[in-house]
Amino acid sequence: MRRLEGKTALITGGTTGIGRATAELFIEHGARVAITGQDEQRVADAARALGPNAIGIRADVSVAADMDALARRLKTHFGALDIVFANAGVAKPRPLGDVDEAHIDEQIGVNVKGVLYTVQKTLPLVRKPASIILTGSTVAEQGSAGLSVYSATKAAVRSLARSLSAELVGQGVRVNVVSPGPIETPIFGKMGLPDAAVQAWAGEIAAKVPMARFGQPSEVAKAVLFLASDDSSYMLGENLLVDGGMATV
Ligand SMILES: NC(=O)c1ccc[n+]([C@@H]2O[C@H](COP(=O)([O-])OP(=O)(O)OC[C@H]3O[C@@H](n4cnc5c(N)ncnc54)[C@H](OP(=O)(O)O)[C@@H]3O)[C@@H](O)[C@H]2O)c1
Repeated sequence: MRRLEGKTALITGGTTGIGRATAELFIEHGARVAITGQDEQRVADAARALGPNAIGIRADVSVAADMDALARRLKTHFGALDIVFANAGVAKPRPLGDVDEAHIDEQIGVNVKGVLYTVQKTLPLVRKPASIILTGSTVAEQGSAGLSVYSATKAAVRSLARSLSAELVGQGVRVNVVSPGPIETPIFGKMGLPDAAVQAWAGEIAAKVPMARFGQPSEVAKAVLFLASDDSSYMLGENLLVDGGMATV
């Protein structure tokens, strides 16, 4: 059964990884989808690969003017939105001694300010009953050396889901979080670490997962589909972990 027939969705950070897999699944389930990213060409290539039910719009989630322009394009193209997946994010591991202003600003800018802008700027387009899903992370549940700033941004995302749920439930809008554990996506290659260091770190992480492996983006997408659809109609402000048991078992 197609669970998003006739629905429209925005997915920020849909060029690769979890956002891209979610766009594929949403389209398979009958939705029309807009994806975003920072680079015109990457966004266009991804949208083309997703097919006629996808459009790609370049917009940096951390820039208010980009997000205003995005909302205008979405209004023209879709008229209204049923689903918003605020998923764009960056992760930059760094020991505390090396944390500086640019490092803090980049991650808070994309992971926190970006989520707020995504919800705020698209809210006038959202029609009841709407579902907003934010991408958190299991790093908000645990302490991870070298991930202090990133983990704090994801704890902020988890908190935003509670506050925004309280604020928007009266408008027929549900807000929930999906919190992935380690998922095999290009994010690890964007951390500014040498390949060998990433491989070694990935091995250490996988050893901490009770299911003893990284997850696939498609496994997170299925949880997002659940939160986006009416199947989760009585869930509000919830945090759904998709982590092979890492934060729970
Ligand atoms: N992979 C994991 O292990 C894991 C675990 C927990 C949580 N997460 C979270 O899952 C989300 C998706 O990450 P992923 O693993 O799928 O990584 P990914 O493949 O690197 O995807 C990140 C997406 O965000 C986009 N993006 C980054 N900065 C942006 C900005 N300023 N404005 C607009 N788009 C931007 C990227 O687009 P371009 O680079 O093309 O611009 C890309 O589409 C993130 O929020 C991440 O923190 C990932």
